[in-house]
Amino acid sequence: MDTVGVIGGTGLAALIDGATRERATPFGPAIVTEGELGGRPVAFLARHGDGHTIPPHRINARANAWALADLGVRAVVSTAAVGSLRAELPPESWAIPDQLVDRTWGRADTFYDGSLVRHLPFAEPFCPELRRVAVEAVPDAAPRATVAVIQGPRFSTRAESSVLRDAGVDLVNMTLCPEVALAAELGMGTVTLCLVTDTDTGHVEDDPDAVTAELVFRRLAEARPRVLASVERIVAAIPPHYVPRELMDADAIGHVLGLPVVR
Ligand code: ADE
Repeated sequence: MDTVGVIGGTGLAALIDGATRERATPFGPAIVTEGELGGRPVAFLARHGDGHTIPPHRINARANAWALADLGVRAVVSTAAVGSLRAELPPESWAIPDQLVDRTWGRADTFYDGSLVRHLPFAEPFCPELRRVAVEAVPDAAPRATVAVIQGPRFSTRAESSVLRDAGVDLVNMTLCPEVALAAELGMGTVTLCLVTDTDTGHVEDDPDAVTAELVFRRLAEARPRVLASVERIVAAIPPHYVPRELMDADAIGHVLGLPVVR
């Protein structure tokens, strides 16, 4: 049975009964917990490090993606805290997004930054097959949504929020880019379970759900048991030998990874 990659907050590590180790990659070390979840071998990565010490723009997403691919991971299940721009997606609701808008800058966001030039098809940033599995496993989650990934670490201004909402964005986050694209460059498919923690700059005047870091952490802590249970259900439902819908270019990926690529 293939190992499933799980990327999430520090709190999720407690769920996985396994050994935590530093894994060397050409991009620096990644801290990976290998264990079992939902009857499957899993490799878990805490995006923000132990005790939330890595800000969104400093996450070593290339090391993280590489470490997972190096362990033979083909499917990545991630969780993300998001602010909502829509009344229909209130705090404590969830969504399984189908689209991304990348508003980050200055992050190391590709493996193809040397003489090997490749252009990733990214019309469907999340894997449709893994999304189907997740929608079935978490039926109360909104089955699609568009997430804008902002640079952070500050939250948005009211004007920035309005621009995103008017452009059709539903949710705001700081971490899914370049994480999802880097996974795809290495031939891994991703599905993300987004937990709405706040209403970003507010849906109403003096909105008590307008974002603060304290509110995000509190809502994440409150939701941890159901996030864990849902991630476990998704992991358990992934086909044992899932193959990502499109290996972008198996030879190129093999070249970058320095590994044999399974076709
Ligand atoms: N993560 C959780 N809430 C957020 C928000 N409002 N903006 C950006 N990232 C978030």
